[in-house]
Amino acid sequence: MKEYNLTAKMRAYSWDELTDEQRKVVAVAKEQTQHSYCPYSGFHVGAGALLANGEIIRGANQENAAYPSGLCAERTALFAAGAQYPEQPVTKLAIACFTDGHFTKEPGAPCGACRQVMLETEHRYGGKMEVLLYGEDATYVFDSAADLLPLIFVSENLKG
Ligand code: THU
Repeated sequence: MKEYNLTAKMRAYSWDELTDEQRKVVAVAKEQTQHSYCPYSGFHVGAGALLANGEIIRGANQENAAYPSGLCAERTALFAAGAQYPEQPVTKLAIACFTDGHFTKEPGAPCGACRQVMLETEHRYGGKMEVLLYGEDATYVFDSAADLLPLIFVSENLKG
């Protein structure tokens, strides 16, 4: 038997410590919480995906009476980016959550399916995508989506 430790690096920043570019993408994610369609959960999630060409693609969670038909904010943004700008790498992805009249103090943690899609995005473009999770108390920054999902499943795994 061999035991492995899977580690991931994350940093927590105050708003003032973020760069202008990071603040810009996070601001879009915060703004986008207003465009969430969440009549069932009341949990508003916004996302912003910064492309290499400087464009920021917007996303927000979209719910449905048939619950599983809805989609998270991160995936609406990443899929929209892929559909509108298939040649542009996504360099940063920011997420913000708003519920009960305020942004969450702690950043929201992306669901497993969104982490998987984030990884595919990174692999698709062959570079790192920084992930910024906004919270009122701190913004968590991951240099790479891979830090959010150890032991990844990507296209190479399909080859056996
Ligand atoms: N949600 C997201 O948009 N992103 C996440 O990473 C976690 C959850 C949405 C899905 C659903 O509309 C609501 O939050 C409550 O789960």
